[in-house]
Amino acid sequence: MSRPAEIEVVADGEAPARRAAEAFASAARRAVSERGLFTVALSGGATPRAAYGLLAAEPLRSAIAWERVHLFWGDERCVPPEHSDSDYGMAHEALIAHVPIPPENVHRLHGEDDPGEAARAYAAELRSAVPARAASRADLPVLDLVLLGLGDNGHTASLFPHSAALHETERLVVATEVDAAVRRRLTVTVPVINAAREVVFLVQGAAKADVVRRVLEGPYEPDELPAQLVAPDPGRLTWLLDEAAASALDRGR
Ligand code: 6PG
Repeated sequence: MSRPAEIEVVADGEAPARRAAEAFASAARRAVSERGLFTVALSGGATPRAAYGLLAAEPLRSAIAWERVHLFWGDERCVPPEHSDSDYGMAHEALIAHVPIPPENVHRLHGEDDPGEAARAYAAELRSAVPARAASRADLPVLDLVLLGLGDNGHTASLFPHSAALHETERLVVATEVDAAVRRRLTVTVPVINAAREVVFLVQGAAKADVVRRVLEGPYEPDELPAQLVAPDPGRLTWLLDEAAASALDRGR
């Protein structure tokens, strides 16, 4: 049974990005001291860019043992890495190009390859680069941290409403077609997200207020709201919201 999510509402502006960057840095410190490495899946979209920029700047840049960090992605668009829609490309511009992370520690999804091939290859890379939980039956790779965003239709990573990907229980990564500007995507599946030690949603802006309320306080309807499938067990789930994104929540008003 997964534990209840923690909801952290921070002031608008740069506070959410700073809080997300701090969460990344503390998860990295904990993982490196306990297991000698830190495995994290980054999210795409626009929201996390500011947090990635804070990780690439002092004081956080020097606070992180980049040689022990392994970057993954929760999803990717089926475009080449230099394409303006590439999630890897955004992270490279905002973070990777500015920190001393060894290139072999950057495990990007190959959006430029055949989607089925790329999904199979990434699942193999996750299995080989991310340790499983000791004596766990499913031998799922256990990421130390998964960063997620939330689409205004309730999607997260590239798990979109009514998609077959939502019900995938065997494969770690699938190719999928979604109702978005960039239709062909690669995404990790729910079991990978829910095996993580920690999952953090970073959601900002009034435009997300209604979907945040529906996901957190509305009826459980994961086919409509795939973000409701995120329930790490035994890992920790935190929703990092700015005031505007949290403005429709009851939250004991
Ligand atoms: C992507 C992301 C996606 C994103 C949401 C929110 O590749 O687009 O993985 O899940 O997090 O769509 O995007 P914004 O932060 O741009 O609102």
